[in-house]
Amino acid sequence: MKSISLLLALYLFQPAALAYIWPNPPIDGLEDAYTISSGFGALGIVDDVTPCTLGPAGSGRQTSAEWLRTAYHDMATYDSATGLGGLDASIGFETNRPENIGTAFNTTMSFFNVIQTNHMSCECVILAIKNCGGPSIPFRPGCIDATEAGPSGVPQPTESLETHIHHEFARQGFNATEMIGLVACGHTLGGVHQVDFLSIVANAITPENQEGVVHFDDTSGVYDNHIAVQYFNGSSVDPLVINSNSDAAIFGSDGNQTMREFAQDSEFYISRCGELLERMLNTVPSSVKLGDVIEPLPVKPYDMNLFFNATGGLQFSGFIRIFGTSDEAAAANPLDMPVRLVWLDRHGGSSTSYTTPAVSAEFMAATSLFGSLQFFQFVDVDIDPSLGISSFVVEWAYDQQSALTTANNGGAGFPYQDVILFQTKGSCHGAVDKNSTINAVVSTSLNKILIINTHPFRFGTTWAPSPMYMWTTASRRRNKAR
Ligand code: HEM
Ligand SMILES: *[C@@H]1O[C@H](CO)[C@@H](O)[C@H](O)[C@H]1NC(C)=O
Ligand SMILES: *[C@@H]1O[C@H](CO)[C@@H](O)[C@H](O)[C@H]1NC(C)=O
Ligand SMILES: *[C@@H]1O[C@H](CO)[C@@H](O)[C@H](O)[C@H]1NC(C)=O
Ligand SMILES: *[C@@H]1O[C@H](CO)[C@@H](O)[C@H](O)[C@H]1NC(C)=O
Ligand SMILES: *[C@@H]1O[C@H](CO)[C@@H](O)[C@H](O)[C@H]1NC(C)=O
Ligand SMILES: *[C@@H]1O[C@H](CO)[C@@H](O)[C@H](O)[C@H]1NC(C)=O
Repeated sequence: MKSISLLLALYLFQPAALAYIWPNPPIDGLEDAYTISSGFGALGIVDDVTPCTLGPAGSGRQTSAEWLRTAYHDMATYDSATGLGGLDASIGFETNRPENIGTAFNTTMSFFNVIQTNHMSCECVILAIKNCGGPSIPFRPGCIDATEAGPSGVPQPTESLETHIHHEFARQGFNATEMIGLVACGHTLGGVHQVDFLSIVANAITPENQEGVVHFDDTSGVYDNHIAVQYFNGSSVDPLVINSNSDAAIFGSDGNQTMREFAQDSEFYISRCGELLERMLNTVPSSVKLGDVIEPLPVKPYDMNLFFNATGGLQFSGFIRIFGTSDEAAAANPLDMPVRLVWLDRHGGSSTSYTTPAVSAEFMAATSLFGSLQFFQFVDVDIDPSLGISSFVVEWAYDQQSALTTANNGGAGFPYQDVILFQTKGSCHGAVDKNSTINAVVSTSLNKILIINTHPFRFGTTWAPSPMYMWTTASRRRNKAR
C-alpha cells in the first residue's frame, strides 16, 4: 500500500486551486449548482437522484445509474488520434443506434436540457456519483453541446475482449488496466434490464420491476466496491459476469490484479474511480478547452438587489452564503453566527454607519454534498443615494465567542455597482416562455435618473455576455429554484 499513501500525500500537498473572484458569470451559476445541493437556492438536481436508487416507480430504473451510463456512452465515441467525439452531449442525436439501446439516454438528455444547456451535464453526473457515496470528482466547466450526431463506437457486451481493449478503450485513450478500472467503476450502480437485453437477462420482469433489472451488485444504490468483493467471494450477481462473458473477460484480463486491489481496499476503489471518472468526464473534443476546476467559494453573495422603494428611498437587500468543510462548519448553528456586511460608498469612503447585520432563518436551510453551508439575509438596508455603494466585505464567525474573519473576495472586496439598478418590484421573468418585463433605473450620478421599462424582453438559451446579465441573474436563479 506504499504507493497508495504516497499518491495520497502528493494529492494532499497540491496547492488548492485559487478561488475565483465574484462576480464571474456564468461560473457563479455553475458554482451555485455545484455547491447548493438541497434546500434554499438549490436547483433540484440532487433531489432528482435522492435517494441514489430513485427512478420512475415500479420500473426497475435508477436515474443516477442512467446519468453515469449516459456520460460513458457519450464519451465512448472519442478518438484520441483525431480528437473527435468525446463528451459533447451528441448522445442526444445517437439514441437510435443499437449501441445505445434503452430509453435512458433520452430521459437523461431531456432532464439535462431542462436544467441548462452547455456546461451542466458533467456537473449533474458528478453530483449524482457523490450523492451515491462515490468520489468527489473535480468539476471543470466548458463542455460544449454538439448540434449533430458524432462518430459511433460504444463497446457492446457481445464484442470480444480484444475488440474492447485494442479498438474501443485504446481509441478512447484508456489502456487495458484502465479499462478494467473504468468498467468496475461504472458497474456498481444500476444493472442490466431485461427489456433491452433479452439474451442476457430473463424472468426478471415483475409488476414492481417492469423493465426487469438485475443489479450488478448487492448495493446498487451505493457507489462502492461490492462489484469487486462479490466477484471473488462467490456471490456475484452481475449478469455480465454470470450470463454473459463481457465483464468476466474484462475483470480477469490482467490476471485479476486490478479487481483484487479494488476488493481488498474500498477506499482505494473510491479514489481510483475518482481519477478514472475525472478523466472520462474531461475527455472532450480537442476543439473544446475546459475551464479551471470550480470549487465552492467560502463566502459568496447571493441574490443581491439595490433598488428604489415605493417612497423613493434607496435600499439594499440580499443574502450571504458561507461554506466550509471543517468540523466547526458542520457544528455551527447559523442562528448563532455573527455575520455583517461593511460597505464603501461610491467614492471608496467608509463610515461606522456603513454596516448591516445579516441573519439566518429556517427557510434558508440548505445542504451541500461537499461541506456545510449557511445563508444569511439582510433586508431593506437604507443606502444614502448621494453617496451610494461601490463594494463590501463580509465579517463573520462560526459563533459569538470567536473573533470575526473578514471575507474580502480575494482582496478588493465584493464589487457592487449603483449605476444601473434593477427594479425587482414591477419586473417579472417568464421562466417558461422566457419573456420578461424588466424595470431598471440607470444613473451616472444618481441625480440624473433614467427609467427603463422593457416588455417583453427575450432571453436566449445561453448566457449572453450582455449588460443585462447583472439584472437577470438573481431572478433567473429564483425561478430555477422553484
Ligand atoms: C466494455 C465496456 C462496457 C460494456 C460492454 C457495458 C455494458 C453494459 C450493459 C449491457 C448494461 C445494461 C444496460 C441496461 O440494461 O440498461 C450496462 C449498464 C451500465 N453501465 Fe456499462 N458497459 C461497459 C462499460 C461501462 C463504463 C465504462 C461505465 C461507466 C464508467 C458503465 C456504466 C454503466 C452503468 C452505470 C450501467 C447501469 C445503467 C442502469 O442501471 O440504467 N459501463 N453496461
Ligand atoms: C429519442 O428522442 C428522439 C427525438 O425525439 C427520437 O428521434 C428517438 O427515436 C428517441 N429514441 C428512443 C430510443 O426512444
Ligand atoms: C496503463 O497505464 C497505467 C498508468 O499510466 C500503468 O500503470 C499501467 O501499467 C498501464 N497498463 C498497461 C496494460 O499498459
Ligand atoms: C460477499 O460480499 C458481499 C459484499 O460485501 C457480502 O454481502 C456477502 O455476505 C459476501 N458473501 C460471502 C459468501 O462471503
Ligand atoms: C479471476 O477471478 C475469478 C473469480 O474468482 C475466477 O473465476 C477467475 O478464474 C480468475 N481469473 C484469473 C486469470 O485468475
Ligand atoms: C424607503 O427607503 C427609505 C430610506 O432609504 C426609508 O426611510 C423608507 O422607510 C422606505 N420606505 C418603504 C416603504 O420601505
Ligand atoms: C414571447 O416573446 C416572443 C417574441 O417577442 C413572442 O413571439 C411570444 O408570443 C411571447 N410569448 C408570450 C407568452 O407572450
